[in-house]
Amino acid sequence: MSRLKVEIIPYFDDNFSYLFYYNEDGPKALVDCGDAGPVLDFLERKNWTLDYVLATHSHYDHAADIPALSKEFPGLKVIKPKGEDRISTPAIEVSDGDTIKFDEGEIKVVAVPAHTNFCVSYYISDSVFVGDSLFSGGCGRLFEGQAEDLVTAMDRLRSLPGQTQIYFGHEYTLSNLKFAKSIEPSNQDLLDYIDRAGSMLSNGEHTTPSTVALEKLINPFFRIDEASVIQTIDPNGELSRTNRMAALRKQKDNF
Ligand SMILES: [Fe+2]
Repeated sequence: MSRLKVEIIPYFDDNFSYLFYYNEDGPKALVDCGDAGPVLDFLERKNWTLDYVLATHSHYDHAADIPALSKEFPGLKVIKPKGEDRISTPAIEVSDGDTIKFDEGEIKVVAVPAHTNFCVSYYISDSVFVGDSLFSGGCGRLFEGQAEDLVTAMDRLRSLPGQTQIYFGHEYTLSNLKFAKSIEPSNQDLLDYIDRAGSMLSNGEHTTPSTVALEKLINPFFRIDEASVIQTIDPNGELSRTNRMAALRKQKDNF
């Protein structure tokens, strides 16, 4: 099987769309579209057409310009989470565990409701596209779900193979890492990654993608069972796992 290729298409201040494909002459899929302009420019430069757009969730900065893509590419297949009526473009609705055949591979739907009640991630060929459900060093705010939903979402994403590339929706890495350091000031992997991420950004690079293996070492939302995280958020050891997650998320909201 060919390797999955992923093009990072930045837009707005810190958003990312991702265009993925196996073969240049094969189908192309885009994850999220808050602004069609940079996507259309990219496709035009390559003289490519678009076959799929996958929506991770309904927020405007991820989904507002899906109709513009549908208009541009009449054969475009729109994929969205089942029941997410806030995305109104006619779409194929998908639920947890569904698979969509894509060229040589298949896209697997991983439901991760928490940031919104309908968030999904899309997993294909050792890559996962997570929207705002997970960031490098952090995760999306709980706009609709509860802490127990966030626990489930983090456990699901954490259980993907370590080498899985994580393509997240915003370049929030440095501010997330600042918070992570306040939780685990002695985590050497975290301190090393802060330096690495800082150099990448000052060289004009993005920190996306991360990997599951790296996030397990540095992301406090993947590390709520680690003694060093528990020591900060629940020094007396009184909280349940769910309440630890709730306390961690609340601290981040107020950071
Ligand atoms: Fe969002």
